[in-house]
Amino acid sequence: MAKLAIQPDKKISKIRREIYGHFSEHLGRCIYGGFYVGENSPIPNVHGMRTDVVEALRQIRIPVLRWPGGCFADEYHWMDGIGPKANRKKMVNTNWGGVTEDNSFGTHEYFELCEQLGCEAYVNGNLGSGTVREMSEWVEYITFDGVSPMADLRRANGHEKPWKLPWFGVGNENWGCGGNMLPEYYANEYRRYQTFVRNYNNAEHINKVCCGPNDSNYEWTRIVLENCFRSCDPSLHGNLDGLSLHYYVVPGPWENKGSATDFDEKTWYKTLSKAYFMDELLRKHSAIMDEFDPERKISLVVDEWGGWYDVEPGTNPGFLYQQNTVRDALLAGITLNVFNKHSSRVGMANLAQTINVLQSVILTEGADMILTPTYHVFDLYKEHQGNMLLESSIDTASIGMEEEYQLPWITESVSEGEDGVLHITLTNASLTEACPIDVEISGRKAAAVQGEIVCGAMAAKNTFEEPQRVTAEKFSDFRCENGALSLTLPPRSVLHMNVRTDA
Ligand code: AHR
Repeated sequence: MAKLAIQPDKKISKIRREIYGHFSEHLGRCIYGGFYVGENSPIPNVHGMRTDVVEALRQIRIPVLRWPGGCFADEYHWMDGIGPKANRKKMVNTNWGGVTEDNSFGTHEYFELCEQLGCEAYVNGNLGSGTVREMSEWVEYITFDGVSPMADLRRANGHEKPWKLPWFGVGNENWGCGGNMLPEYYANEYRRYQTFVRNYNNAEHINKVCCGPNDSNYEWTRIVLENCFRSCDPSLHGNLDGLSLHYYVVPGPWENKGSATDFDEKTWYKTLSKAYFMDELLRKHSAIMDEFDPERKISLVVDEWGGWYDVEPGTNPGFLYQQNTVRDALLAGITLNVFNKHSSRVGMANLAQTINVLQSVILTEGADMILTPTYHVFDLYKEHQGNMLLESSIDTASIGMEEEYQLPWITESVSEGEDGVLHITLTNASLTEACPIDVEISGRKAAAVQGEIVCGAMAAKNTFEEPQRVTAEKFSDFRCENGALSLTLPPRSVLHMNVRTDA
């Protein structure tokens, strides 16, 4: 028996909607075939964007979509992707399979997509192989309303009004594919490039995201921040609004990551323990950030996260296409609980990558589309978006088959909406044991409760033949009597409960 203690009077921080964001790169079939099929496709679309995909992502209230990469971003020259499609340059996608990129999806198409999705834009600029001028002009093209060469060019290409650009990444993985830079060097480059990312329309601030660390590279975080804060007016809190963090859960060694669908019990726990490692990463990177930014004005932006396995047999190794199972549902549920708990520092997170690449929420095959177990977890957790995180804790044992790969048996997070309804999300990582839980809500009584759950066999997945094998189902294994709430959480499960309370 575990006890979940909730303190509704202790409100910790707002859970920004952007924590539930997604990432889309020109990689494999994420953009082409995933989001975009072109106006002339027989697949139902609006201005080239797949209708089924747009509807599915609106359903989980996608708050923000990062684009165009990833490693692709630092080789992308935005001017190649504007103007009449027939005239657009073709390029080699050197990072991802060496395929031809015809640039038919560019800036206008991306903003059209964001509009259809009802989400914010997060554009990642090219610092690795682009120029300061190129980056500066892209921002001018997107955001400037007045008369200028780039605003005029945008109008000539058919878009009179500027778009909103709340987030802009100044390079991607510049410690690796984005230029193999040392932190001191990147920090200087960052300072220079970001200077020319102008807020043309003063009222609409562009949040500049500086390239942060990979994984546990704490040295990168410290050196980049030291250099960004040197000689800066403290009232500007440095010159950045966000610092990115990339962390992928890879069960095996890089050259043999392991199958997405064929794994044993030990690998299940190892994978989920690695997912929970996100908690340590956030604590340690945040502690360094606190030294420079104690008021937590700068967001940690986890703009790439998720499980990374071997590609599906017979698929292009450069396309990173992988299936998705109940293990991924747990990976997502655990990570999202961790993000909620760190919402005083984490301002955005973007799962990699929305469709057909890595831990996708959607898979497509021609005109068909299926939703993965991870999708259903995002559907459950969407209720946390914009809520206040409440103080909560659970007394739970740790679980795992190997000493070094343990994690909490149960993870939890609790938030409160503006309407006073409590949203509780729980994960049970055990392969075999259900967990009875007493919920204690300090000073309040549970009055009305509803729950939805995602669970199944450890490698259960949805396929095009059987698309509904793993979905969100109504949860009824709880008791709510005289204001007291208790429940039994089945093994291998992710649960959301909404609880109306009386004083
Ligand atoms: O998401 C796939 C790749 O992983 C991205 O392009 C890169 O930023 C990271 O290494």
